[in-house]
Order: sequence, then C-alpha cells, then structure tokens
Amino acid sequence: MKASALFDVADLVTVVTGGASGIGLAYAEAMADNGAKVTIFDLDPESLDRETKRLGARGKRVDVTNKDALDRAFDETVAEAGRLDVVFANAGIGGGPGFLTLDGKRNAPRAFEQLDTEQWERIFKLDVTALFWTIQAAARHMKTSKGGRIIVTTSISAAKTESFVGTPYVAAKAGAAQLVRQAALELAEYNILVNAIAPGPFVTNISGGRLRDDAVQAALAKYCPLKRLGFADDIQGLALFLASPAAKYMTGASLTVDGGVTLGVAG
Ligand SMILES: NC(=O)c1ccc[n+]([C@@H]2O[C@H](COP(=O)([O-])OP(=O)(O)OC[C@H]3O[C@@H](n4cnc5c(N)ncnc54)[C@H](O)[C@@H]3O)[C@@H](O)[C@H]2O)c1
Repeated sequence: MKASALFDVADLVTVVTGGASGIGLAYAEAMADNGAKVTIFDLDPESLDRETKRLGARGKRVDVTNKDALDRAFDETVAEAGRLDVVFANAGIGGGPGFLTLDGKRNAPRAFEQLDTEQWERIFKLDVTALFWTIQAAARHMKTSKGGRIIVTTSISAAKTESFVGTPYVAAKAGAAQLVRQAALELAEYNILVNAIAPGPFVTNISGGRLRDDAVQAALAKYCPLKRLGFADDIQGLALFLASPAAKYMTGASLTVDGGVTLGVAG
C-alpha cells in the first residue's frame, strides 16, 4: 500500500465548521492542500473571505447555533458539490480562565459559585447543541450516499479536570465526547465513521487569543512534557488521517494531540 493512496483525500467534499481560524483552519488547509473540495462555515466574514481565497475553498457565513441557517448551509453545499464526504465539526469558543490564575492563586471571580449561567448556556449551545445539529445534518446527507466521516474537535478537557480553564467548557466538552461515541455506534450501520480529535493547548484565537501571549505560553508549557504549546501544523496530519482511507476501520475513537499534557508533569 502506497502512502499516497492510504492518505488520499482528493476530491472529498469537505465542510469545516469554524474553519476560518485556528484548528479548523489547519484542518481546512490540510484538506485543501491535498485536493479536497473544502467549504468553510464560519461567523467571521473577514477571516472567512481571506482564508477561502488563500485556500481556493468555498465559504458560507453561518452561525452554527442557528439550526435553520446551519441546515441551509449544508443543503446548499450538497446541492453545489453533489454530495458530502467529510465534516469537521469544530466551531467552538473558549471557557475563559479557570478557578486558579496562572501563578496558582485562587481566581475569585471564577470560583464555582460565581460562574454565570449566561456563559454556561452560550458554551453548551455551541459545543453540545450545535454539535448535535451538525452531526444530524451530516448524517442526513451522508446516509443518502455511501457513508462519510464526521470528525469532532473535543478537547483533553473532555476527560481531565482543569484548573486554568472555565468549568462550563470542561462539562460541555465531556458531553461532546460522549455524543461522538453515541453517534458512532448508531451511524456505523451506514458507514458513517465518527471520531474525535482531542487537542491540548493550541495557539489560536480562542478566548480572545490569550494563548498568543508569550507569558501565558511559558506558564502553560511547564505542564507539557514537550515543553511547548501546539501550532496548526501539529494537528494537520491527524485531520488528514481521520478523513482518509487510512482510518477506514476507526469509529468512536478519540485521538489526543497534546504534547503529552495528559501524561502528567515531567519537570
Ligand atoms: N486552542 C486550543 O487550545 C483548543 C484546545 C482544545 C480544543 N479546542 C477546540 O478547538 C475548536 C476550535 O478552536 P480554536 O482554538 O481553533 O479557536 P479559534 O477562535 O481560533 O477558531 C474558532 C473559529 O470558530 C468560529 N466560530 C465561533 N463561533 C461560531 C459559530 N457560532 N458559528 C460559526 N463559527 C463560529 C470563529 O469565528 C473562529 O473562526 C473549538 O471547538 C475549541 O473548543 C481548542
């Protein structure tokens, strides 16, 4: 088996939600650079316009928390491209700071009893409810063809507790991770494979781009055995793998890409 055939994603009709920035953009780029037909769904018109031009991809300005708009964007994409092969369900927002500051002190405004319901609901609407709708739309279209791939960006926070990340995010990502497994179980019958990518800390625009700050990076890198945070090219191979024939016997899996953060502290 040649690597070129094993990882062939050419002509795959691919949607990436939240694909105009960060991790989603890294997925979109990996797929477009290897010949896939990529459509990015994103809220932000400027980065959507810039990045779709750069990648030679299509773009749809859509808020994935609006079910009607999301369904319409999928229907239009399938009408334009003829089918749907791969969906990266990736759009998400950060959880904000956790109950500890980066220097290990209690962060009073982020104490459990201070957390506001509005933020809880916003995160759950995007990370769980809109993910549910995205998988529904993908399944509806993929069932009419020979199957497909749904790849969900969860987080290492789905399975580990966090001191520096807001509590609603941790609970929402745990919900997203179990939704992946449940969807994978039911949709296997239709050759729709559903897997998760669980990143550790990646330098993106999440949480107002706070991970772009050198001091924040240095503080968090101490908890990473590889001693640095992740960047776009650290996740692209995994995206390509899960979309490609190489992953054809995988479903319901969660693949962690975190520089070893979940292993523990290594000095
Ligand atoms: N960066 C990290 O450290 C990290 C770690 C683990 C998981 N993740 C997950 O990765 C995913 C992508 O995050 P990122 O770090 O690349 O952030 P990012 O802010 O760089 O990119 C997110 C993109 O999603 C878009 N978006 C946000 N809300 C949307 C909505 N309602 N509808 C459509 N588009 C929307 C934004 O406009 C943006 O382009 C999220 O699900 C996030 O939880 C990130």
